[in-house]
Amino acid sequence: MRRDSFGSRFGALVAMAGSAVGLGNLWRFPYLVGENGGAAFIIIYILLSFLICLPIFISEFVIGRRSQKNAFAAFRDLSGGSAWRFVGLFTVIVPLIVLSYYSVIGGWSVEYLFKSLSFSFTENASQGAFHTMFSDFVSSTWAPLAGHTLFLLATAMIVIVGIKDGIEKFSKVMMPMLFFMVIAIAIYALTLPGAKAGVDYLFNPDFSKITGKACATALGQAFFSLSLGFGTIMTYASYVNKKENILTQSTATAVSDLMFALIAGVAIMPAVFAFGLNPQSGPGLVFETLPFVFGQMPAGGLIAIIFFVALLVAALTSSISMMEVAVAYLVEEKKFSRLWACITLFAGCWIVGALCSLSFGPLSHIKIDGGSIFDFFDNLSSNILMTLGSLLTVLFVGWKLKKTDIYDEFTNGGTLPLNVRIFGVLWVLIRYVAPVAIIFIFVYGLI
Ligand code: ALA
Repeated sequence: MRRDSFGSRFGALVAMAGSAVGLGNLWRFPYLVGENGGAAFIIIYILLSFLICLPIFISEFVIGRRSQKNAFAAFRDLSGGSAWRFVGLFTVIVPLIVLSYYSVIGGWSVEYLFKSLSFSFTENASQGAFHTMFSDFVSSTWAPLAGHTLFLLATAMIVIVGIKDGIEKFSKVMMPMLFFMVIAIAIYALTLPGAKAGVDYLFNPDFSKITGKACATALGQAFFSLSLGFGTIMTYASYVNKKENILTQSTATAVSDLMFALIAGVAIMPAVFAFGLNPQSGPGLVFETLPFVFGQMPAGGLIAIIFFVALLVAALTSSISMMEVAVAYLVEEKKFSRLWACITLFAGCWIVGALCSLSFGPLSHIKIDGGSIFDFFDNLSSNILMTLGSLLTVLFVGWKLKKTDIYDEFTNGGTLPLNVRIFGVLWVLIRYVAPVAIIFIFVYGLI
């Protein structure tokens, strides 16, 4: 059977950017900036994104496109069937863990989109009322489960259709729309009186705030945001045409991901400061603080709808990439039909996600390592599994694969002059700098 693939360069690019741009940019990045001291955190984040994460991104791209196989088979075949195939299996399982809890937050976006459509963020509600609205919602049983179910169902339905007709078409329509929506909110936020304090917060660095933990958090966030260490880039790259330029596609994805995160910061922080609110409100920033801000703003009802549509679209273009990793594996290795693969994965992720969702309410008494089930999955995946996946990937490319093969894939057989010129630097980054930095920052973050 002929393997499905992306139909165009633009399609491949928006699908990759779609995988990267997600809740990580619109939900996680702004509150991490808030919690870790603003601009100094952003500078560390940018440095880590380009020095460490871009080489890892390219490594994943090389593995995927060289093998033209699912993530498991890519590690197995490129390594000649050695124990590295277990790393392949690891990269198939991790996105499912991420997808399970990601879909819970996706479900919150569904609920908040409905709330915005019914103009629930009223001007006279106090900030405390929005806190209560959010905590009552997440701690209830059925409403968050319904959101989780709808979100996962939408993900599965897009993936069932296939690469070119499902994932690519969806991303081609939604990514430009997402871009315009986020830009529109950012421009609007900048016009609010008092917005300057938020901009200063984002762009005036205070390096005294940078601790080992902040660096580890920035690196974990960069992995999460670029979808690294969990098979998605590898899998999407396996559908990319051999003529495409890996350097251009990878850099364009990393730049768009960073731009989205910064624009999301500009859309959110000035508004938070304009209304004298605390930027350090953690994961609740988007669901508690922003609805209050929307209630106070002129035309806030409309802005709220645009924001929550954007959040949902961003989350979906990422969740489909996570499901695709395991779908490709089940279809190619276990001979599932695409439909059955999606149904099976829907069921598995639904169950784990339901436990995460219920851990805010009926299952809140269950603690793992002092936190809830949800916290456990969030920390495990972004702070440990993605870091480990990324480390193993660069070690595989830098130390197991043949340098001549990487060169051949990265330069399209020596035909791309810029790629040929920078290959030496890239090789040092992949082979030495990235692994050492990952280990160093990971250990430093623990102490
Ligand atoms: N890269 C995806 C995001 O940022 C997982 O949400």
